[in-house]
Amino acid sequence: MVGLSILMGRDQDLLETLPADCYRKPVVTVPIGRRRVVIVNDPEWIRHIFIDAREHYPKSDLMISALSPLLGDGVLIANGETWSHDRKMLDPAFVHMRLEQMFPLMRGAMDDAIVRLSHLSPDQVIDLEAELSHITADIMFRTLFSEPIDGQDAAGVFGAFMRFQRNAPQFNLRVILASDPARPEALPKELMADAALLRGLIARLLEARFARLEKGETFIDFAQSAIDARDESGCPFSRERLIDQLAVFFLAGHETTASSLAWTMFMLSQDRDAMSRLRTEVATVLGAAPFTFTDFKRLPYTRMVFREGLRLYPPAAFLTRRALKADRFGRVSVPADSFVVVSPWLVHRHERHWQDAWSFCPERFADDQPAPKMGTYIPFGLGPRVCTGATIAQLEASLILAELLRRFEFRMTNVAEVFPMTRVTIRPRSGIACTVSTINSTTF
Ligand code: HEM
Repeated sequence: MVGLSILMGRDQDLLETLPADCYRKPVVTVPIGRRRVVIVNDPEWIRHIFIDAREHYPKSDLMISALSPLLGDGVLIANGETWSHDRKMLDPAFVHMRLEQMFPLMRGAMDDAIVRLSHLSPDQVIDLEAELSHITADIMFRTLFSEPIDGQDAAGVFGAFMRFQRNAPQFNLRVILASDPARPEALPKELMADAALLRGLIARLLEARFARLEKGETFIDFAQSAIDARDESGCPFSRERLIDQLAVFFLAGHETTASSLAWTMFMLSQDRDAMSRLRTEVATVLGAAPFTFTDFKRLPYTRMVFREGLRLYPPAAFLTRRALKADRFGRVSVPADSFVVVSPWLVHRHERHWQDAWSFCPERFADDQPAPKMGTYIPFGLGPRVCTGATIAQLEASLILAELLRRFEFRMTNVAEVFPMTRVTIRPRSGIACTVSTINSTTF
């Protein structure tokens, strides 16, 4: 059992208040407040929650009430029939062939980022995470609407999303413990206003798309996949539901990748050997040629580095479910309505699952190492609700790591102040400040 330390740490981030037991025990309970909070680290029980008994563990009401003003009934927070109906309609958008067709859109965003960074003076300090957010938001926007983020509407969407994420309530066990499921807490006004603004902007972009389709134009992007999707009876998504799904793609698809890349690049900057190995791999495999779609498979070390980045800093650090009925995890009873937490952050740093769990060591994902046991490596979740964007995220990460690190040296200037905090994703509390200079590829 853990408890008071979590409640007492009012001004601290949740990650700081998690007691050591959370990193050692298979199941930990927090026995205070209106509902029991059960933190599950055991891979068998994780499998039970996400696969075998998943009907009894829908997405938690807290997450739904925090995100529904923006995402409506979108696939990320929908449950039951609505979820399975919509997920089936959306899955084809992520098949390999579609991703290959959309790759030039990603490449375009990457090329613009390279130009942007090349114009920085070597002593100019930037916020690494903000820059990576710009790149991943641009990629997301282009793959959604075939439009760069610098357009007027796109810039509006980006700005409102950034504000929404800043103002989204911290994932906070105190709020959960105090919350009454029948009367969810009202969301801040600013958050509601940004959600409405964003939905309005997405609606406008959709209307513009329909107008262009009427003129006979064709598109290959996520918006088009969602517009073209049909269910078993041949029905498309309603306009409202289309807005929900596109908002999900943007929210789920850009800050996650940006956050994991920022942490990965931060850790690489502190590990000269890993950085040098990655750069050598990119130079050997790509030479002077640009990264193309098929290069993803040809850069195994780059992929290992990102997998390790996702292990230590999984952007979705806490996956939350609500127990619909009473259950039991071994000796721990789970009353109906318990708040069940599976935390990739904890599972990935758990002493029973990983050796030297707190160290950055990409080699643990080498082909000759045993694969992680099911349920112990879950940056993209597990089971039928696993992230639909996992492949595109890894492709995008390899593209960005390879193209940035082969060209630029990122020198971190506030290393001692870099600490994680929980927002929608795990973010560096005071940012990651760095300078960017062009490197001579023969020096590593
Ligand atoms: C490094 C990047 C990413 C990470 C770590 C990540 C992580 C996750 C996780 C953990 C879940 C499951 C949440 C749960 O079970 O409660 C999820 C769901 C989802 N993700 Fe991602 N994601 C990433 C990128 C993306 C991208 C690029 C897209 C879309 C283009 C995307 C779209 C989605 C969607 C639609 C869902 C909901 C799936 C469902 O409930 O059926 N994600 N993601």
